[in-house]
Order: sequence, then structure tokens, then C-alpha cells
Amino acid sequence: MIDVHAHLNFHKFEEDFDNVIKKAFSAGVTKIINVGTQVSSSEKAVELANNYKNLFAIVGVHPHHADKIDLPSDWLEKLEKLCQNPKTLAIGEIGLDYYSYSSNGIVDPVLQKEVFQAQIDLANKLKLPLQIHNRHAGEDVIKILKTNKHKLQNAPGMFHCFAGSKQVLKDALELGFYIGFDGNITYKGVAPGETIALPQLAKITPVDRIVIETDSPYLTPIPHRGERNEPRYAIITGQYIADLKGISFEEFEQQTNKNTKKLFSKLK
Ligand code: NI
Repeated sequence: MIDVHAHLNFHKFEEDFDNVIKKAFSAGVTKIINVGTQVSSSEKAVELANNYKNLFAIVGVHPHHADKIDLPSDWLEKLEKLCQNPKTLAIGEIGLDYYSYSSNGIVDPVLQKEVFQAQIDLANKLKLPLQIHNRHAGEDVIKILKTNKHKLQNAPGMFHCFAGSKQVLKDALELGFYIGFDGNITYKGVAPGETIALPQLAKITPVDRIVIETDSPYLTPIPHRGERNEPRYAIITGQYIADLKGISFEEFEQQTNKNTKKLFSKLK
């Protein structure tokens, strides 16, 4: 299983990332892609990728960090430089987030859109796919991606931690995007602010368009919910979706590995 979205670059793993990586590989995870949410965490993701053979990086500024305060003036140049690294696979996590966080509420949507657009343009310039973050903003995200269709790569990218309506899923698939599912697919019911449960969305997503992720340290799957999430739990989510699809874990793993390689052409 490949974990296409983790944050071992975050402080939560500062003390024991080496042990977490070893546990993941011995559990059957073959590659881990760590994702930045600001310039500093993107730098850390690349540093980890440089130090471990089967670790890779995705770099970008998350919409939640699109505030001017968080952004160094040369943020785009810094990201571009990080993208030159052979192990930087894509630009992400980028997109829109209309969820109101207790720390800073909703970042000005105009600012979010500017930062998103600037990174779509950078990905176009560097011919890299996108890893999309969307929270309660599916329609706007799709609108922006449609407007930028001519700038997207052949495999345009993936929606990380997919959630949203059937229509958003349909649009994302039609644009050629892959769909990432996480441990929260094992939670019962419909998440607040959503209209449809994740297993229902996974059922109607073709298996040749699914990729598996953990979003560690968040979204820990049942039965470990409440603990810190780790890449080794990607296996649980993989097994869960294989069961939903009525196929063996081995077949599902083989297919999602193939999907991941199609999606990220720099992945070796
Ligand atoms: Ni994430």
C-alpha cells in the first residue's frame, strides 16, 4: 500500500518519525508521500524525502495558511525551488477551505483563490500534478479547475481526503482527477457539513481512480480512532475499501499502486 498523503513533517512526529516510518514499512506500506501545508512544512517534507529511499514529498500552501501573515513574500519562488527536487511529486495540498476553524475562522476566500491560482500556474509551468484540498468548497474548487482545464497535466492530480456531493465527485472524475480516501471512511454516518457518507462515494468511484492515504496524524481509522494516526494504518483503509468493492486486498493494492504511479510520473 502506498500512503499518498501523510504529514510526518509535522511536529506531532518530531520525536519518533524514524520509528513511525520503520513500523509502516514493516506493516506493508511501501512508500509514503509527505505533504506540506506551508513553506516550512514543505521544506521539511523534502528533507525527509532526501533522507529515506521510499519517502517522497508534495509541496504547497494550504488554503488555511493563505493569510498574508503566514506567507513569506518569496513563497512562490521557494516552492518552485523545492519542486526541482527529483522526489517532489506534485504541488499540494492546495485548494479552498470554507470550514470555520477555532484558531482563525475562515481565511478570506479571495485570498484563498489567489493562492490557489498562483499554485495552479506554478504546477502548469513545472508540468506537475495537483493534490487538492477541499473542505466545504467543492463547487468553487471544481469551477476553478474547469477554468484552468487547459493548464492541467495529463493526469491532472488528485483530490486529497475526498468528501462532497456526488456531483463534485462526477466533475472531479470527468476532469481526470484521482480520488483519495482516508481512515475517516470507517466512521459511521455523514460528517457534519456533508450530505453523503464516504462509503457511498467510494462505492461509485471506479477502482482504477482510487488512491489511499492516511492524512497522519489526523483521521485515524477505527479501531484506532482517538490515537495519533500513522501511515501503517493505510492498510486498514485499503482493506475497508477492498471489502466495499468486493475484491481481495491484494488486487486492490495492486490497482491503487498502479493508479498512484500513473498519477505521479516522478514516483520511482
Ligand atoms: Ni493533510
